[in-house]
Amino acid sequence: MRLKDRVAIVTGGGSGLGAGIAQRFAAEGAAVVCADINEANAEAVASGIAAGPTEAIAVGMDVTKYDDAVRLTAETVRQFGQVDIIVNSAGIANHMPFLEAKPEDFQRIMRINLEGTLYCAQQAAREMVKRGYGRVINIASIAGLRAGIGRTGYGTSKAAVIGLTRQMALELGPLGVTANAIGPGPVETPLTAVAHSDVTREAYLDLIPLKRYGEIEEMADAAAFLAGEQAGYVNGQILYVDGGYTAIGIARE
Ligand SMILES: NC(=O)c1ccc[n+]([C@@H]2O[C@H](COP(=O)([O-])OP(=O)(O)OC[C@H]3O[C@@H](n4cnc5c(N)ncnc54)[C@H](O)[C@@H]3O)[C@@H](O)[C@H]2O)c1
Repeated sequence: MRLKDRVAIVTGGGSGLGAGIAQRFAAEGAAVVCADINEANAEAVASGIAAGPTEAIAVGMDVTKYDDAVRLTAETVRQFGQVDIIVNSAGIANHMPFLEAKPEDFQRIMRINLEGTLYCAQQAAREMVKRGYGRVINIASIAGLRAGIGRTGYGTSKAAVIGLTRQMALELGPLGVTANAIGPGPVETPLTAVAHSDVTREAYLDLIPLKRYGEIEEMADAAAFLAGEQAGYVNGQILYVDGGYTAIGIARE
């Protein structure tokens, strides 16, 4: 029970990686707040958790709305008295080749993936610093480190999340709050069901030394580590959980 008596917010907690991380945190003893724009999904995950020994609530909210980020932290404190951990998993992907990028599409993905992370983490961190303890975990991506066809919006937003994570690590560290990111490789979720074509899937299997997609549970393992006491001296790091994808260059002879 690595997270006993901890209170965790997980944005994007209604689906995919966020749902898996919320469930893992609950299994590790944390009270969990599942925040998602899809309130029905967040409710389903939270009530599944609350049927077990740990407490969970759902908050319907849009991470791009500053007032919603304020309400998310306020609701968490009202319900559980504190915020110890926030995982920023809410995100979208889209296909955006550089020469075809449209302002509205670029702005939308930056607002959700980057601004949403900033607002939600900022509100939670303001609460964490009052108690001198906290963990911010941002879900970045391998696409934030390596370029990919059509990733002009997505990859750029995730590279910015990596930069933001380092910024938070610098400014929050002295106040007792660490900030790290996970850089997942491809994982089967509703997001990749739409975003990954057959060609993309084939390319990934070719490029990933472990020759498979990652599992939601493997991302939850990394999140539980970063959220726990054992990661107390880990700050400003990007933990790529990607089967070796970002480690390699030439892979054929
Ligand atoms: N699945 C992968 O292969 C993969 C790889 C690398 C990074 N990621 C990142 O992991 C995170 C989770 O992705 P996933 O694969 O679980 O996708 P997902 O679509 O299953 O989950 C994303 C969740 O975010 C929510 N969301 C979207 N916009 C929102 C908003 N404005 N406000 C609040 N909630 C909002 C969605 O409703 C959804 O429940 C994303 O940031 C994604 O970029 C995923």
